[in-house]
Amino acid sequence: MNIITIIKNKCKKQELTNDELNFFVKCTVDGCIDQYQIGAMLMALYLNNMTNAEVLGMTVAMANSGKMLQFRSSDTVVDKHSTGGVGDKVSIPLVPALKAAQEDLIIPMISGRGLGFTGGTLDKLESIPGFSANCLDYEQLLSIGNSFGCFIIGSSDLSPADSILYKARDVTSTIDNNGLIITSIISKKLAAGIKYLVLDLKVGSASFFHSIEEAKVFGKQFVIVAKLLGIESRVLMTRMSSPIGNYVGNSLEILESINCLKGKGPSDLHTLVETIGGHLLEMTHKVKSVKEGRNRIVKSLNDGTALEKFKQMLIKQKVDENIADELCYGNTAAVLPMAKYVIEIKSPTSGYVKSINGIMIAEVCQKLGAGRQFFHQDIDPAVGVHLFVKIGDYIKRDNVYMVLYHNEIDLNKLFLTLLQNSIELTNEIVKPENIIIGVI
Ligand code: URA
Repeated sequence: MNIITIIKNKCKKQELTNDELNFFVKCTVDGCIDQYQIGAMLMALYLNNMTNAEVLGMTVAMANSGKMLQFRSSDTVVDKHSTGGVGDKVSIPLVPALKAAQEDLIIPMISGRGLGFTGGTLDKLESIPGFSANCLDYEQLLSIGNSFGCFIIGSSDLSPADSILYKARDVTSTIDNNGLIITSIISKKLAAGIKYLVLDLKVGSASFFHSIEEAKVFGKQFVIVAKLLGIESRVLMTRMSSPIGNYVGNSLEILESINCLKGKGPSDLHTLVETIGGHLLEMTHKVKSVKEGRNRIVKSLNDGTALEKFKQMLIKQKVDENIADELCYGNTAAVLPMAKYVIEIKSPTSGYVKSINGIMIAEVCQKLGAGRQFFHQDIDPAVGVHLFVKIGDYIKRDNVYMVLYHNEIDLNKLFLTLLQNSIELTNEIVKPENIIIGVI
């Protein structure tokens, strides 16, 4: 078999066989084909799209490219995945809250890093001193999964093909393709032994899917492919134009996650955590309805069991016990890296908040160091924005509606203008829209 012929076949719109897809994935991981050839193959798959059979074949090949976690067959193994958004910290409170609400679940969450405008759960967690996304080897993951029941890690050993292909997609402009997104997400879930999955499918200007119609086409294909591979999945379409919660930036989002784990904080974040958790509890037949599941999640957030589970999870993932304790029960901000400079941004006029441009805010944060422009770049965990308004709020002229945390000695004032432009005000009353759009 020859990679040049395989690329040519796909360029000619021929359906690739499982053998051809396996060959491509194996050569990608073994390093026996060129980076150019990986890029060319991705572009051929992107431009000509993948058939359902190709999506299935490629997903299985990618899942088989590394180790596979296999928990006890009697256990219910669940997870949630998001297609990525600004201020999306949902996984951080959700994993411990779900585990605390239902002790016999296993939640082996594989998360990613931020690239471009989307933030990454692992980058957020790594702002906690001592937390490392890759500190557990395969045996430790199995043992923590079987005994403690949850973790959030990077995916180095599981579906290594995805790690390589995702990076290549990012720099070849081949990210936003339904087939490639499905192979990427489901291969990781298969490798982690997931049986039940909720996909938080972001829809809106700050996401891959700009319309509900596009999202529905993707969601239906996702559910079918997952089912054929033995994963029961549900797709929640959720709104993504303005940031989730009130904070954007790694340390700041940990602060907000801890608040959420204490039953406090913004309602959009709570809605997402409670709804996704509620669906997972209902899908796994642990409760009779999503509503009952939501109530169980609310209880674990309000009674402290979710927070305690989070603390224990950090300790299992090598965070020092005293730091985990201070973070959860003491002075949270004192444990986390905080910026040297804080600038208040005031509203230029009075009015109702009509829109908040999440991408613009994320791009300012990224340029000030909160995100990467190249894969191996270090990030500054302290950089971020605190938003004091949500869509529909009324703000008076000269009142502070945003605070920027940064570490620049000489801050370019353009960043402040961009932040100010990210909030659109109107004289008309604005009714905030529900963050949950629908379920597939
Ligand atoms: N999330 C993933 O894990 N992969 C994609 O391709 C897109 C979002």
